[in-house]
Amino acid sequence: MFRSRPLIRAAAIGLGAVVALSTGAAAGAAARAGGPEAAKAEVEAGRKLFIRCAACHATRSEGSGFFAGPHLAGVVGRPAASVAGFAYSAELKALGITWTEAELDRLLTAPQSVVPGLCLPFTGFPKAADRKAMIAYLKFTAP
Ligand code: HEC
Repeated sequence: MFRSRPLIRAAAIGLGAVVALSTGAAAGAAARAGGPEAAKAEVEAGRKLFIRCAACHATRSEGSGFFAGPHLAGVVGRPAASVAGFAYSAELKALGITWTEAELDRLLTAPQSVVPGLCLPFTGFPKAADRKAMIAYLKFTAP
């Protein structure tokens, strides 16, 4: 009875090694295919680009009253001009859109083409990769 214990343990270690090997291989394959590692790098790039927004936008809803712009927590999928208590311009309120990834891409390309004076002095990210990274980061802000 006692003699079978080490065997069981050895079997468990063996199984653990197989699991570790296969998950390691899966992670490698996912990264090569633009998986979790690439996604993480993109969010990190977006976080750095957010320096262009951080003076005016909070990424958390609490305490965002100190900022000149509305908070952007959970902005992807949020209706435009919907942060309660923020004094939006009449132009932004009249847009009647939801900030989908496509609409955010439009804003990030040229914010002043969406609403005149929007997010000045930020004039847009000309590179599509930068806009994609920015949106990836914004998706990580909690609602
Ligand atoms: C100088 C301040 C300033 C900067 C810099 C700025 N914004 Fe803004 N942003 C504003 C203001 C103010 C508004 C509200 C405008 C209105 O009511 O017309 C706004 C509105 C927005 C909205 C619409 C939010 C809503 O609730 O409908 C989004 C999205 C946005 N900004 C994203 C960004 C991003 C992303 C950046 C950086 C790349 C950025 N802004 C840079 C001031 C700024």
